[in-house]
Amino acid sequence: MDFNFSTTSLDPKSTKVFLCFQDKKLTKAAQDFDTHHQGFLKKALENNRFSGKKNETLVLNAPHTLESNRIILIGLGLEKDISLEVLENAGGSIFPLIKSAPDQMLEVSVGDVTLNNLTSADIASSLAYGFLLRSWSFDKYKTKEIEDRKVALKLITFQTSEADKAQKLFTSLEQIAAGVFLAREFVSEPPNVIYPASMAERLQELTRLGVKVEVLGLEELKKLGMGALIGVAQGSIREPKVVILQWLGADSSEKPVAFIGKGVTFDTGGISLKPSANMWDMKYDMAGSAVVAGLIRALAGRKAKVNAIGVVGLVENMPSGSAQRPSDIVKSMSGQTIEVLDTDAEGRLVLADVLWYTQDRFKPQFMVDLATLTGAIVIALGDFFAGVFSNSNELVEKIKLAGEKTGERVWHMPLDERFEREIESDIADLKNITFGRKAGSAMAGQFLKRFVNDTPWAHLDIAGMAWAEKDMPTIAKGATAYGVRLLNELVQTYYEKQ
Ligand code: BES
Ligand code: ZN
Ligand code: ZN
Repeated sequence: MDFNFSTTSLDPKSTKVFLCFQDKKLTKAAQDFDTHHQGFLKKALENNRFSGKKNETLVLNAPHTLESNRIILIGLGLEKDISLEVLENAGGSIFPLIKSAPDQMLEVSVGDVTLNNLTSADIASSLAYGFLLRSWSFDKYKTKEIEDRKVALKLITFQTSEADKAQKLFTSLEQIAAGVFLAREFVSEPPNVIYPASMAERLQELTRLGVKVEVLGLEELKKLGMGALIGVAQGSIREPKVVILQWLGADSSEKPVAFIGKGVTFDTGGISLKPSANMWDMKYDMAGSAVVAGLIRALAGRKAKVNAIGVVGLVENMPSGSAQRPSDIVKSMSGQTIEVLDTDAEGRLVLADVLWYTQDRFKPQFMVDLATLTGAIVIALGDFFAGVFSNSNELVEKIKLAGEKTGERVWHMPLDERFEREIESDIADLKNITFGRKAGSAMAGQFLKRFVNDTPWAHLDIAGMAWAEKDMPTIAKGATAYGVRLLNELVQTYYEKQ
C-alpha cells in the first residue's frame, strides 16, 4: 500500500473521500466537487443520519456519471475542536471502510483548508498517519483465508495544496509508525516465540539503523549483582537478558535521556500462581520493553538529534522446582535487600535492578520506565490513562503535554513519604508487596523510587493501556504500543536539538 500526496486529483476511478464538519458542513474541496456533480453530496446529507460528528462515517455508492465506485464522507466534529488527534482518528476511521472492499485506489480531498493553526500539510499528513496506524494487523500465523484478508487497496492519495510539505511531514511520521509497529509486533507474538533470548536477538536488528545493541546474559547479570531480576527468572528454563539500546544522535557531550522497560515475556505469577482464567493476557507483560524498543526504533529512524538509551529487563516468570519462593530474600544491584513475599509482584523486582543499572552507568538527564506493573492501575484508570508516578513535577508536566498532543494520555498519581512505611520489611530493607490492596499502584511506584537515586524519573504504569480489547480509530484490537508516540513527542518537543 503506497501513500501519495498530490496537489491535483489523480485518477477519476479512485474512491473519493471528503471531510465534513459537524452539522453537515462540507469542506471547500467537498463543496467544489458537489457543484460539479449536481449536488450529489448535499442530497446525500439531506437523506442520511450522518451529520459530520467526530468518528461518524458515511459510505455512498457513486452515481453512474462518475467513474469511481464509492464516495466516503468522514466526520470531523466542530471546527474549533479540530486537533492532530481528531485528524489522526478521522484518517484511521477510513481504513475499516475499505478494508474488505475491492477498491484499489483512494483519494482523500483536503484541498487548501487550514484549521486552528493547522496547515493543509498538517491536516493531510495526520490523516495519512492515522490511516497508516490503523492499517497494521498481525496475521502471520493465519495459514488459511489469506486471500480473503488481503487488502485490495494499492494507493492512497491525499490531495492537498501543500503536497511537498505534507510528504515531508509524513516521511517523519512513517518512522514513528515503524516504531509503533515494531512494538505491536513484539507484544502480539506468543511467549513461545518471544522470550528473553529471542527478543534480544530480534533487537540486534536495530543495529541496521545505527543503534548500538548490547546483550547481557546470566553470567554478566550475576557479576553486576542483579539478584532481584535473576530471582524472578530462576524458575524458568529460559535465561534472563538485559538489553541496552543506544541511539546516539547528538554530540557526545550531551547527557542522554533513558527509557527502561519491564519485559516479563510471560507472567504466570510464579509460585504465587495466577488464576488460569485470562492468564493468556500475561503474554503482554513485556509491553514496556516492546515500547522502549519501538521508541528507540522511531528515534533512530528519524535520526533524532538526541542521545537516547533504552534498557530492557527480559525474564520469564515461571513456577518450578527452581523458582523463587514467597519469603525468599534477594539482594538487588543497589545493595538493598528485598523480601519477596509474593512472586507475582515480579515487575518491580526486575525494574529495581534495571533502573539502578541505568542511572549508575549512564547518569541520564532523566529516566522514564514503562511497565504493565499492577492490576490496580486498571481499576483506577481503565484504558483511558496510564498512571504516572514521579519524583519530578517538571518531568510530569512535560509528559502530560506530550500525552495531550498524541492522545496517549497520563494521569498524575501520588508518591508520598507516608507510603514508605508500608514497603518496609520486618527482616530485609524492603518487601515487594504491601498489606491489603490499598493504593496498590502507588506502593509499586514507591518501591521503584528506592532504585532511582536522585535521577529525575517517571514511572508509567501501562497495565491498562498495552492491549486494546476492541478496535479504536488508530488501533486495531490487540497490541497498542501505547507509549511510543507519547515518549517520541516528549523527546522531540523538549530534548532534541533542532
Ligand atoms: N503483570 C502483572 C500486572 C498486570 C495486571 C498487568 C493486569 C496487566 C494486566 C503484575 O506482575 C502483577 O501480577 N501484579 C500484581 C501485584 C500484586 C501481587 C501486589 C497485581 O497487580 O495483582
Ligand atoms: Zn506478576
Ligand atoms: Zn507482571
